[in-house]
Amino acid sequence: MSGPAVPQMHIFDTPEAAGQALARLTAEQSAAAVARRGWFNVALSGGSMPRLLFPPLVSPPYVQQVDWSRWRLFWADERYTPLHHADSNFRLAREYLLSQVRIPAEQVFPIDDSFDLDVTARLYHDLLVQVLEAPPGQPPRFDMVLLGMGEDGHTASLFPGHPLLQESTRWAAFLTDSPKPPPERVTLTLPVLNHARCVAFLATGAGKADTLARVLHPSKPDTTLPAALVRPADGELHWFIDRAAAAKLDSIPD
Ligand code: 6PG
Repeated sequence: MSGPAVPQMHIFDTPEAAGQALARLTAEQSAAAVARRGWFNVALSGGSMPRLLFPPLVSPPYVQQVDWSRWRLFWADERYTPLHHADSNFRLAREYLLSQVRIPAEQVFPIDDSFDLDVTARLYHDLLVQVLEAPPGQPPRFDMVLLGMGEDGHTASLFPGHPLLQESTRWAAFLTDSPKPPPERVTLTLPVLNHARCVAFLATGAGKADTLARVLHPSKPDTTLPAALVRPADGELHWFIDRAAAAKLDSIPD
C-alpha cells in the first residue's frame, strides 16, 4: 500500500451504535494483530470514547472473542494528573475496560505525574521505542490508535496552530498550554499516529458537524485542523460518526 489512507466512513443513527461498530472493528483488529504478530498494541484516548467503545467491547460477543492476554495498552494522550484523578484518561479506561477484563498489569502502560512533565514525555517516548521495538529513528508502529476529535479539530492533545504539529523526532511530547483543560498533557505526535496500522476516530454530536465537514472535505481537507493531518501512510483510517456529526458532510462546495 502507498499514499495516505483514504478515510473509510461509518455513519450511524446514534453515538451508541457508532461505539458498537467501533467495538467490532477493534475486536477484528485485535484478532488479526494477535494472529500475525502475537500482540495487539493499542493506544487509547479520553473524552467520550471510553464510555461509547468499551461497554460493547466488554460485552458478548466481543468479550469472549478478544484475547485480552495479548493486549498491550498505551495512551494516545493523557492529562498530567495522578492516575486516580477525575481528569485522568487512564481512570476512564480503568472504569470501563480494565475493571471488566483481565489484561496483565505489566502490559498496561499509563502516563501519570510521578515525574516532571518533560521527563514523563521523554520516558514515554523511550518506552514506546522499547516495547514496540521501533527501529532507530523510526516511529513505533501501533496496531490500532483510537482517537476522538474536539469541536476545534484537535485530536489526542494536538491542537490547531500548536508547534507540536511540527514535531518529527519525539514520539511522545508534552504541552503546558492545552486550550482544553487541564493545560498540562502528554500526547503522541503525528509521526506515530500516521505510522499506525489502523487509526479509528469516534466523533459524535451536532457540535462537531462543521469541523468534521472541514476535516473530511473530499478534495480540500482543512489542514489547519489536526484531525485532518491524521492520514496513515501505510494503514487504514476509519471514522465512526453519528448522523448529527455527519450533518454537514455534503454541504461544503468544492
Ligand atoms: C482528551 C482527548 C481528546 C478527546 C477529544 C474528543 O482530551 O483526553 O483524548 O483528544 O478525544 O477532545 O473528546 P469528546 O469525545 O469528549 O468530544
